Parts: sequence; structure tokens; C-alpha cells
Amino acid sequence: MIGVTLALLLGRLVGTLLYGVKIGLEKALPGSMRHGLAKKAVILCSQHSHYACTTVAGWLGIGQDNVIRVPSLRDNSIDVAAFESAAREQLATGHAIAAIVATLGTTDAFGIDDLAALHAVRERLAQEFKLPYRPHLHADAVIGWAWSVFRNYSFAANSLGFRGRTVRALAAAVSRIRHLPLADSLGIDFHKTGFAPYISSLFLLKDRADFGAIVRERETMPYLYHTGEYHPGMFTLETSRSGSGVMAALANLLLLGQEGFRTLIGHSVEMAEVLRELIISRPELTILNDQNYGPVTLFRAYPAGVDTFRVKQREESDPSYAGELARHNELNRRVFQRVAAEALSGRGVAIGFTDNYRTSSSGEPICALKSYVLSPFADEQQMHAVVEHVLAACRAVESEVGS
Ligand SMILES: Cc1ncc(COP(=O)(O)O)c(C=O)c1O
Repeated sequence: MIGVTLALLLGRLVGTLLYGVKIGLEKALPGSMRHGLAKKAVILCSQHSHYACTTVAGWLGIGQDNVIRVPSLRDNSIDVAAFESAAREQLATGHAIAAIVATLGTTDAFGIDDLAALHAVRERLAQEFKLPYRPHLHADAVIGWAWSVFRNYSFAANSLGFRGRTVRALAAAVSRIRHLPLADSLGIDFHKTGFAPYISSLFLLKDRADFGAIVRERETMPYLYHTGEYHPGMFTLETSRSGSGVMAALANLLLLGQEGFRTLIGHSVEMAEVLRELIISRPELTILNDQNYGPVTLFRAYPAGVDTFRVKQREESDPSYAGELARHNELNRRVFQRVAAEALSGRGVAIGFTDNYRTSSSGEPICALKSYVLSPFADEQQMHAVVEHVLAACRAVESEVGS
């Protein structure tokens, strides 16, 4: 997929980020593994990057408070200008940058950071501050990696026959995903968009020599690694490990191939686009992540009479609207609970929910209903069913409130 020198297959959660940041920490503050941190180090990532960044900072001794979360833009990608000033501030204060984490496919909204722009800023700042290291750039692409299969797809010829909206969505995502080779390390989860069972992750490192930063001393491992050439156990956290996640991932890659993955990912995006078309045709519903083009759709339902053309903007930034926002949050929460209860009893559709898609200027969270289509068996009828169930639940909740 990309020109990498070494790969590490992991069967553990949060693993890819942990390795990326650990290697970056050792590059920024050599000797940390042995002596601990000589000075303060930070992780820079976006407001919408996964909470695993905070977990990893805590576990590596960087400290959870030293995760600098930079604001995101409307398309849920990191604000590169804000990132540059945050990085500049940290370097000017003398802090080390353990890692810059670019998220390519945020968990909730499928926001894709501009990796090429982050890379350019990193290069510029390393030179300007005359750093003895290059701050490690880790791409958390555990969700978005799969879109790489479209790198050489001719959207003009569109041999797989996707609809126009789907082609546009796929091409938009690929325009950013194609920069993955710029990252120093990269996380892939086959258990997410690789259709493999939990858990099977891949950590890719661009420069093999970077693994030297975390390799264990030979004398500490007298009982192992005497024959053969590939010994990930010499630099991974664990000694024993399961091969099953790895084999499942490999089986899927071999079975599906590039065309199979294109078909599956394309279908997910196509179903999301069908759903989006249905949602925008209903005045009671509105899409929140309308600038993201993946399989996930975040949307909200509103009581009859609410002007859904203006409501998003008012909820986000009009302090006098905070009471309405809280009521709409409550409506959506109850809609979700109804739809989820129906689904659990086998009668409905499975949707998700997020407690805090964004925070309004008055500090109130903005929650959202969530449709995450990944099943190859999802069809248009089911997308219609999502809208029907949500609208029915909305009417039911409204009548409960009114009675
Ligand atoms: C963008 C992103 N990064 C990291 C993680 C953590 O990965 P894992 O679930 O493998 O621990 C997730 C999981 O949802 C994620 O969505």
C-alpha cells in the first residue's frame, strides 16, 4: 500500500497510537525509556482525535494534561493554523514534542486531517527551531486507511458504477488519505474498516531504524529469539501474543483484494449517501457532519416548526438559544432511546448516539443521532427504515412531552 520498511502486527487495543507516541517520545527525549522523562513533553492532536491520545499520554508518563487538543474546523479536521501556533508556543517554551497525531477518519464524524499541511509545518518548525530531532508525525488512520484502495481508482471511468454522490464522497476522502506515506508511522485497524474480527491492528513505521528507539537489550532476553530473523518480541510490549487477529486480517486482504475492498467501502459510502439524501429531504431532520464523506452520518431531529435551515448555527453560537438547545438535546436523546429499545427487541434499526458532537458557545454539548453503515448487507430499504423509525420516535416523544 505504501512504501514502508517495517510493519508490526498487533493484537491489542490502542496499540498503534501507543507505539507511535512511544517512538516519538524516545526520538524527542532520547533515553526516556531508561531514565524517564528529562523534561516536559507534549502530544499535539485535534479536538476530535480519539481519547486514546489521552490514555497513551497517561500510560507513557507524558501526563494527560500534556495533550494539546487543537480546535477543529467545520469539516472536523484539525485547524492547521491553530496547530502551528500551538506547536510554536510549545517549542518556544522549551517543551519537547513527543508526537503530532494526525487523525485520518475521526471516530464520530469521519473528519480527515490535512496530513500534507501538518507535515509541511513540522518540517518548517524543525528547521526554524533548529531541533535535534524531527517531531514524530503519527497518522491515526485506523478508520481511514481503507480508503487507500481508491488511490488508483479512476473516478472518471468509475468501473464499479457508483452513483455520482458516492464518487464525489470517495474522491473527497481519497484526496487526503493519499498523503499517508508522509507520516512517520501509521495505525491501521482491520477490525474497523477491514471487516476483520476484533482485534487486529497494524502499526507501520516508515523508517526501520526508528524501532531501534524501543528495542530491548539482548541480555534481558536470554531465553528467546535465537533462530530466524523476524522478532517483533524484541521491541514490543508483550512477549506472548495471539496470531489470530493477524491471520484474520491477512485472510481478508487475500480474499477480498483491492477490488473487494473498493466494493465494500464504496457500498458503505453509497448507503450513507442514500441516507443523507433522505435526511435532507425531511424538514424535521438535519445533518451535522455535512462536510464529511464517510460511512458515518450524524444528524438531529427537531420538533415541528423549528427552522432547520438556521437551527445549527443558532445552537452553536447563539447564547440566547441555550434553552432550546437543551430541549432539542433531550428530544434527540429520547428518540435514540426509543429507537435503540425497539432495535433490541428485534423490531427496528440499529443507530448510535454521541453525547457531544460539538460544544456550543454557551458550553452546552450538542448531541447527535448516529448512523454508521458498514454492513455489506445494508440496503436502500434499510436507509428508508432509519429515517422512518427516527421520525416515528420523534413524533412519539413529542406527543409524550405535549400530553
Ligand atoms: C480514530 C481512532 N483512533 C484510535 C482508536 C482506538 O483504537 P482501538 O479501538 O483499536 O483501541 C479508535 C477506536 O475507536 C479510533 O476510532
